[in-house]
Amino acid sequence: MLTARIAVLVSGGGTNLQALIDRQGDGTLKSGQIALVIADKAGVKAISRADAAGIPCEVIARKEDGFEEKVLAALAAHKIDMVVLAGFLGILSGDLIGKFGGPILNIHPALIPAFCGKGFYGLRVHQEALDYGVKVTGATVHYVNEIPDGGKIILQKAVDILPGDTPEILQRRVMEQAEWVLLPQAAEIVAAQIVQEKENTL
Ligand code: GAR
Repeated sequence: MLTARIAVLVSGGGTNLQALIDRQGDGTLKSGQIALVIADKAGVKAISRADAAGIPCEVIARKEDGFEEKVLAALAAHKIDMVVLAGFLGILSGDLIGKFGGPILNIHPALIPAFCGKGFYGLRVHQEALDYGVKVTGATVHYVNEIPDGGKIILQKAVDILPGDTPEILQRRVMEQAEWVLLPQAAEIVAAQIVQEKENTL
């Protein structure tokens, strides 16, 4: 069966990567195959998750010269069809997005257009939501374009904010109720489209 070859870019704990691996394992993510993990720094937990799942993993340091050229070379070498940013904290340039040419998805831990854009990542997003006093937050999966968190939305899910929430408690609830559900669903939607396109060209 034809599948879309997926590269997952990570910077940290990799729980969203794990959700993708698990849904591939149980057949929910069936049109896509995680063929490569790229970590932008050594030693992050996401790397051991990729290793445990037997997925090739490359560490390409974001702070080094030539980061984007190396990423593009790895994507080409592994014949990647689509990229998923799963807790990847860098911002990809329009040049990389254009040269890759395929879809790039990102998971953001808020309901875009709230609490998003440059500087909004990780716990900071949840801190800002709590400081503002909103009663509902959530997660968004969207296509990546040259504007941080600015691409077309694919899926969103709302999550309640509860009295006594800290950024850590809220982050965990948003991950459990929204991120780990939405990201594999969105990956399947986009992978299925790629498979359809491949079949049409046969
Ligand atoms: C996730 O909450 C993800 O949504 C967020 O970083 C966390 C990474 O966790 N991403 C951003 O804030 C991007 N702007 P993980 O490494 O365990 O998947």
